[in-house]
Amino acid sequence: KMKKFIDDLMAKMTLEEKIGQLNLVSVGFTVTGPVVSENVDEKITKGLVGGVFNTFTPIAVRKLQEKAISQSRLKIPLLFGYDVIHGHRTIFPMPIGLAASWDLAAIERSARISADEASADGLNWVLSPMVDIARDARWGRISEGSGEDTYLTSQIAKAMVHGYQGADLAAYNTVMACVKHFALYGAAEAGRDYNTTDMSDRRMFDEYLPPYKAALDAGAASVMSSFNDINGVPATGNKWLMTDLLRKQWGFDGLVVTDYTAINELIPHGMGKNEYEVAKVALDAGIDMDMVGEVFLQHLNQLVKDGKVTEEQINVACRRILEGKYKLGLFEDPYRYANEQRAKETLLKKEYRDAARDIARRTLVLLKNQNQTLPLKKTGSIALVGPLVKSQIDQLGNWNGAGDYKQAISVEQGIRNVAPNVKITYAKGANIASDTLMLKRLNAHGGMLEIDPRSPQEMIREAVQVAKKAEVVVAVVGESQGMTGEASSRADITLPGHQLDLLKALKATGKPLVVVLMNGRPLALEWENDNADAMLETWFAGTEGGNAIADVLFGNYNPSGKITATFPVSVGQLPIYYSHKATGRPYAGQLLDKYKSRYLDVPNEPLYPFGFGLSYTSFSYTAPTLSSSTMKAGGNLTVSVQVKNTGNFDGEEVVQLYVQDLIGSVSRPVKELKHFKKIFLKKGETQTVTFTLSEEDLKFHDINMNYVAEPGDFKVYVGTNSRDVQAAPFTLVK
Ligand code: IFM
Repeated sequence: KMKKFIDDLMAKMTLEEKIGQLNLVSVGFTVTGPVVSENVDEKITKGLVGGVFNTFTPIAVRKLQEKAISQSRLKIPLLFGYDVIHGHRTIFPMPIGLAASWDLAAIERSARISADEASADGLNWVLSPMVDIARDARWGRISEGSGEDTYLTSQIAKAMVHGYQGADLAAYNTVMACVKHFALYGAAEAGRDYNTTDMSDRRMFDEYLPPYKAALDAGAASVMSSFNDINGVPATGNKWLMTDLLRKQWGFDGLVVTDYTAINELIPHGMGKNEYEVAKVALDAGIDMDMVGEVFLQHLNQLVKDGKVTEEQINVACRRILEGKYKLGLFEDPYRYANEQRAKETLLKKEYRDAARDIARRTLVLLKNQNQTLPLKKTGSIALVGPLVKSQIDQLGNWNGAGDYKQAISVEQGIRNVAPNVKITYAKGANIASDTLMLKRLNAHGGMLEIDPRSPQEMIREAVQVAKKAEVVVAVVGESQGMTGEASSRADITLPGHQLDLLKALKATGKPLVVVLMNGRPLALEWENDNADAMLETWFAGTEGGNAIADVLFGNYNPSGKITATFPVSVGQLPIYYSHKATGRPYAGQLLDKYKSRYLDVPNEPLYPFGFGLSYTSFSYTAPTLSSSTMKAGGNLTVSVQVKNTGNFDGEEVVQLYVQDLIGSVSRPVKELKHFKKIFLKKGETQTVTFTLSEEDLKFHDINMNYVAEPGDFKVYVGTNSRDVQAAPFTLVK
């Protein structure tokens, strides 16, 4: 039916109208790239636009859709896309925080709510999920993904696609997902945004590509090309990537859109000397839709006339875009996603705010809790200190969609809501940064940083006075939301500005020091770890962030989050990740041995390993027991551990299972996450947790790049994080 409909439609289309479908313009409330689209209304009426992004609300969308439907010759409806990354109006924690929940049902729920809100607000396409693996915390966009691990990111990718697209893309409350950034964008050299990626095929296929594939297998109907160069060919002009791998090997038949002006950027990449040339490079590679750059719109016609590209190539791309519209039901009802009544009833409704609070609580990670400093009691006095105490906008994080910061709950407000009897005194203590150029840049791009003109010494002095009069100090420090995200890489990932000086002065008062961190990336927190009494990582926790943080601080919720990107001791350790190789000279603490793989000045070990996070209670694990010490080819074995809640609180624990392949035709990582379960245990309760490990879990790309499991010896590890595990051996026999 779809084929016939599109055949008939395309038979009526001129070449110009087909090229028009390949054009995605940005118009409206947000600017997310270096240029903006011009004369959009006129282009729509001429049939020269296939989709619009950055516009939402039923009224604004309807206005543009009406132009396409009533004024363009063939009345082809427009796609409406937007960067709904971690919520639309109700904002959830940043993806790196969502991942830290290890709670796939909660993550899927956040995507489902986002889809419901977005579709009520005129949108039918979300530019999410972002599934780029990132192992270098300097990269600002690490905040937008799920961290460093292939397996976990793949599971989250699937959950998000299901949440967005549901079972029926044409339903009024589902939207088309867009997997990005294809591919390997998170491996940008030196963590600098848009930088080159150069990677072996094996690493690509074993570690970086599976999450994109997982999202596509879950049904994601669109893909966004990435900005970066991959082994010498930028993704947007990379035929191997876009056609051989994506289409032929993986069988993807949805639409591929570029990132913002990525075709134009093939010129500075050195892929062509002008737009005419790079238009051909991108179309030949397999790109369907040009985001904002209008290179296709300007040059494809001439390229066809000159015999450089064929009309058939344009037909293929145009068909994919029309198919996307068809699947969304837009030909049946172009206004399906622009319903004012539904918008009124849906956006930021109480049920969704409650969900945001519940989900946010699950994402918070307790990094340290000496002498059970936390939870705090709901009486007495607290000195609330730090540049992020009152911030609402920073709770929303970067890529905060259509979130309204005025609706966001600050940490201060959250504490007042949850513990109204606590006496709060406040001092800002420090500006979020002391680098005025950085501050100017942040404020030029949506930041709202108010700079206290007082000297750092004066601000710290005031904070110390406030601290001295309180029973406990809660310091809310970290990054402002603009310090992570696109084009927000940092070379120094310690606390910016004078925040560390502030913490040192607070510590010197002798009062218990609780550090509440807000940030979008792993930070280097060595002093903080050594000196804080308690430390809670809260990421950017969304609209209900302050309430969720207060719930955890005061024990209404027992924290259960675990970090999904390794926290280094120092920036010099980057990139750092748990699933590294052993090297030929592994260092195992032989302090005076020279010829070992190590640093002279910092340890090899991170500050906090992947999967790390504490609870107010404690859990004990037995060693894993296996159903057999051998696994037969094609077979499986069960791995069981008993987990006991040995502390004084009910709580949740993420039980993690890792595998190590000891000998291979190629060297293998020291550990790889293969399964996990998040369980709830009442205090004193014990549960047997069982995993089924199959041959599939042992596969990788061997010396000949075949995806196989090699017979031989393995170890399975189970534990509370990637470091603190117990092992059991087994053998795979063929
Ligand atoms: O979707 C984003 C992408 O992640 C980065 N560049 C801009 C796009 C559209 O806003």
